[in-house]
Amino acid sequence: MTDRPLEGRIALITGAGRGLGKAMAEGLAAKGARVALLDIERDVLATALREVEASGGQGCAMAVTADVTDPERARSAIDEVVDGFGGLHIVINDAAMGPQFFTNDFVGDPPVFWDVDPELWLRVLTVNAYGPQLVTSVAVPHLLKAGWGRVINITTSLDTMYLRGCGAYGPSKAALEANTRVMAHDLADTGVTANVLIPGGPANTRMIPEATGLARDELVQPEAMSAPVCWLCSTDADRINGMRFIAALWDESLPPDERVAKAGAPVAWPQVNSISQRPDGWEHEDL
Ligand SMILES: NC(=O)c1ccc[n+]([C@@H]2O[C@H](COP(=O)([O-])OP(=O)(O)OC[C@H]3O[C@@H](n4cnc5c(N)ncnc54)[C@H](O)[C@@H]3O)[C@@H](O)[C@H]2O)c1
Repeated sequence: MTDRPLEGRIALITGAGRGLGKAMAEGLAAKGARVALLDIERDVLATALREVEASGGQGCAMAVTADVTDPERARSAIDEVVDGFGGLHIVINDAAMGPQFFTNDFVGDPPVFWDVDPELWLRVLTVNAYGPQLVTSVAVPHLLKAGWGRVINITTSLDTMYLRGCGAYGPSKAALEANTRVMAHDLADTGVTANVLIPGGPANTRMIPEATGLARDELVQPEAMSAPVCWLCSTDADRINGMRFIAALWDESLPPDERVAKAGAPVAWPQVNSISQRPDGWEHEDL
């Protein structure tokens, strides 16, 4: 089997200028994909581009500066990728504003919710929840046209969704998690799938400030995202839709079924015993 199984695939990763987005870009490029690195910060993209090309070869990556919440720019950015690379198959919604926008120390000194700046709360919700909705809506017709594709949304661990002191961060990720289930439903049987991938704990990026006092070597390292994201983007995962995967539990030494059972679960919270009582004629649909 080739060691570049993603040859011919074209991916767009938002928030790819640094952190987990850049690590996933390096991983996908090393497996043969061409990768568009999108970030709101132009400066970080130059370095990221060099590093991703070092993994996948010259010309395997392009940089796109854009704000994922700007509808006009989202559309033109995706046009740039499709024109530049000749199509689009994979969208990874990684760009986010983290807890550090609310406090440098959500471990030792979490602010109470009524002290949070309402405009900042709304901006974080907009970037983290609306951004993926916007980018995916604009991109998905290209994936459907190709007849094969992946939407991968980066959310967070369940307990982080209600972690104190992080303002809109947790709620915004809960919204993206729920929206992934909607996406998976709507994409069923199209050849395009929608799934969630999370690191599985605080990761060693700028999102976890030094002021938290957490030991950097005990954090999830960004490279942990690489193997599960490459697998999700391979044809081996063609039947995986509406799932969430924990990178820290991804164990390549296991056979694929056991790997999926260990690190995967249905996306969102279908197991929670609070399904609504619906009137006759409006049944619950499952994936
Ligand atoms: N680091 C963690 O502990 C952790 C844990 C769980 C989940 N996550 C998730 O993983 C993803 C990556 O996190 P990270 O730690 O690498 O973060 P990071 O802050 O290192 O990188 C995020 C990138 O997104 C970009 N970005 C922010 N707003 C944007 C916008 N409006 N438009 C375009 N780009 C924008 C930033 O410029 C930055 O380069 C995020 O979705 C995050 O919520 C992180």
